[in-house]
Amino acid sequence: MTKPGIVKKKINIAIDGYSSCGKSTLAKAVAKEFNYIYIDTGAMYRAMTLHALKRGYITPEGLNEEALIKDLDNAYITFQYNPVTYLSETCLNGEVVEKEIRQMDVSKHVSPVSAIKEVRLKLVKLQKRLSENKGVVMDGRDIGTVVMPDADLKIFMVATPEVRIQRRYDELISKGVAVSKDEIKQNITERDHIDSNRVNDPLRQSPDALVLDNSDLSLDEQFEFIIKKAQELIGNGEEISQLQ
Ligand code: DC
Repeated sequence: MTKPGIVKKKINIAIDGYSSCGKSTLAKAVAKEFNYIYIDTGAMYRAMTLHALKRGYITPEGLNEEALIKDLDNAYITFQYNPVTYLSETCLNGEVVEKEIRQMDVSKHVSPVSAIKEVRLKLVKLQKRLSENKGVVMDGRDIGTVVMPDADLKIFMVATPEVRIQRRYDELISKGVAVSKDEIKQNITERDHIDSNRVNDPLRQSPDALVLDNSDLSLDEQFEFIIKKAQELIGNGEEISQLQ
């Protein structure tokens, strides 16, 4: 039975772009505004990479794709809400790995791992399922093109390399990760190349996505831009005056 009142339409919002364009900060703020679920798909690929590192499938000799593919069912990736920080945390086989997946060791290997077809099939299936009931803000590389091609609102974020390097540097330093700007530059350049040129679900701007260049925009300005577009799609809601 539905109570009388205003029912707001729920929409799905896809946010894609290169690494360190500020996608997750914005996506989290938008999800909070509408009380939507935020899904960080990069965290899922990072968790899979951590799994590969822990199981010894990544060594100085390289990535053992075959061994990782055979072991995919043993990587159980979930999200858990932390009532203290009010944030959702990534778990690998029941253990919170939010901190480990942001380390440089994972960043260095995540692009080759996420280029593997079988890895993508598994994670894209999960991401599609999570978006079925609408009311989702999801960020990544292939969200508007592959995971949620029918998303109501698609944003493609871009920023200059200098801005992206500085943002990533500030983020890691604030988390206590020892890193140099040169290391970040090299990592971002390599990941951009692999993420855009891989055969499976490469980073592409969906033709119906709105481009948001945030090099010179504050978080508030970016937030206003998306909220306005989303509100136009959501409308004022339908009034339900009788019990149904
Ligand atoms: O958003 P991020 O930097 O945490 O993502 C880490 C890596 O995961 C990124 O370099 C490529 C991969 N990725 C992907 O292939 N597809 C997605 N939808 C999200 C991330």
